[in-house]
Amino acid sequence: MKQIESPAALRGFVQENRKSGKTISFVPTMGALHEGHLELVREGLSRTDICIPYIFLNSKQFAANEDLASYPKTLEGDLQKLKSVSASAVYLPNSQDIYPDGFVTKVSLGGVALPLEGEFRPVMFEGVATVVAKMLLQCLPDIALFGEKDWQQLQVIKQMVRDLDIPVDIIGVPTVRDENGLALSSRNAYLTKEQYAIAIQLNKILKEAAASGTEKDAAQKLLQAGFEKVDYVTIRDAVTLQPPDAKTKERRILAAAYLGRARLIDNMPV
Ligand code: PAF
Repeated sequence: MKQIESPAALRGFVQENRKSGKTISFVPTMGALHEGHLELVREGLSRTDICIPYIFLNSKQFAANEDLASYPKTLEGDLQKLKSVSASAVYLPNSQDIYPDGFVTKVSLGGVALPLEGEFRPVMFEGVATVVAKMLLQCLPDIALFGEKDWQQLQVIKQMVRDLDIPVDIIGVPTVRDENGLALSSRNAYLTKEQYAIAIQLNKILKEAAASGTEKDAAQKLLQAGFEKVDYVTIRDAVTLQPPDAKTKERRILAAAYLGRARLIDNMPV
């Protein structure tokens, strides 16, 4: 697996592969890789000739009070995992490559970025959109793959790519869950054994609410299960993330709740 460490080397690698007629997929990550990320790489390799994941801990999507400093960093293990799924190369830019001195440009968002995560983590989507736009333009892959666990992020990126005419197809890949249904997340590493026993209630409570077609008691049930704070648990239009209306074709239940240091999010179709 080739390690690519600069934007120029990434462009060179992509151009070389394009010349020999290869198609390219790209998998954005912040490291601390788990099966969910590896599934994105496998899906990429099933759709294109080569797949390039990147690892870049994007400071711009963390607010000052969030967990940037303690975000798990597991580079050696990440590289082994990517090799094990035959990733073609990994892009490992440093922060000067992405945010050189004097960097001031931001992708400004509206619409689907505003509710839910947009209300509770107002810094996040602008930071995500800025780094993803930049990475997509550096690589110009055929497709880029994102996990459906971050459902709203996936909609934000689809909207941005459409609005800015970035010529890359954005592919959502179903959430990978552990044997108890907990959606895999790098932040699950923050959970103690006791908190894990509570965390696995999240998908069960969402499943029940989705089956009943209402979120009415779900927040209360999460608090009773032991979650400390519920930011939201709500059924929304799956594309606009607004409350469903007559135009809604697909509905989704989405939740975010705190357990110790971890803020867990999950979602599923209704
Ligand atoms: O989902 C993530 O891990 C991040 O938000 C992403 C898409 C890699 C951008 O930093």
